[in-house]
Amino acid sequence: MEQTSWIVAGLSAGLFEGSVMPVKTPGKDLAVWRQRSGQANAVEDRCPHRGMRFSMGFVRGDQLACRYHGWEFDGAGVCKNIPAHPTLQPPKTICAKTFVCQEVNGFIVVNVGDDGAAMPAEYSELEGENMVPVRSVYLDASISTVRDWLMQAVFPTFAAGQDGTGTPVTYIYGNLNDNLVRISAQVGATTEELILALQALDDDRTGVHVQVSDMGSKEEMPAVQRHVARWLADLRLRLESNDQSQINKLKISA
Ligand code: FES
Repeated sequence: MEQTSWIVAGLSAGLFEGSVMPVKTPGKDLAVWRQRSGQANAVEDRCPHRGMRFSMGFVRGDQLACRYHGWEFDGAGVCKNIPAHPTLQPPKTICAKTFVCQEVNGFIVVNVGDDGAAMPAEYSELEGENMVPVRSVYLDASISTVRDWLMQAVFPTFAAGQDGTGTPVTYIYGNLNDNLVRISAQVGATTEELILALQALDDDRTGVHVQVSDMGSKEEMPAVQRHVARWLADLRLRLESNDQSQINKLKISA
C-alpha cells in the first residue's frame, strides 16, 4: 500500500464547536480546532509569538486564541488580533503553520505533509455506509502491531445477544488503506461492521478512531456504542499485555 501524508486526527463527533484538541503525529504536534461556525482546522501546535501550545488555547468565535498573550488566528493561520495592541492591524507576516484539514464520513483527515497530495479515495468511498461514531481509544503499541491485531480480532456482534456466543459468525477483514481497517461480522443474513482509522502518535502509541456501520437501529445506538466501547477496552487490555492467545480463543468461525 502506498504511504500517504494524510492522517486521521479524530472523529468529527469528538470535536465540538468552539473546541481545540492536541493531535500527536510522529513528526509534529498539531492543534485541531473547530470554529463556532463549524469549520474544522489544523495548525502546528506552536504559537508563532513565543511558542505556547495552541492546544492549550481557546476558540473565540471563528478564531483560535493563544492562552499566553491572547493573539488570535483565523482558520488560515493568519493573525487577526493582538489584544495588547487593539488598534494595530497585525502584519500579514504573522502566521501560524496550518495543514489541510477535511472532514469526510465522520473522520477528521489532515495532510501533515507539504506535498499537496490528494486525500486517499478510501475515505470518501465510505460514503453511504451509514456509519455512526463510537469513540477514539489510545493504545500503547505501534501502529503496525495494532493493525496486525485488528486484522485477526473478533468482536461480539450486537445482533447475537451482545455476548458473541452461540451464534456462528464469519469475520472478514479488510485493509482499506494503511490507516483504515474494516472488520465485517456476518451473522446469518446480517452483517455488522466496524470501520477503524489508525493514527500513529509516535513509534509506540496509536490512536484508533472507531465507527460502526449497519449495527442496530437509531434507537439502539447508545447501546451499540457502549457495546463496542466495552470490546475496545477489552482489546486494549489484551493487546497491551500481548495476550495473543486470547485473540484466538475468542475467535469464532462459521
Ligand atoms: S505565545 Fe502565543 S500569543 Fe504570545
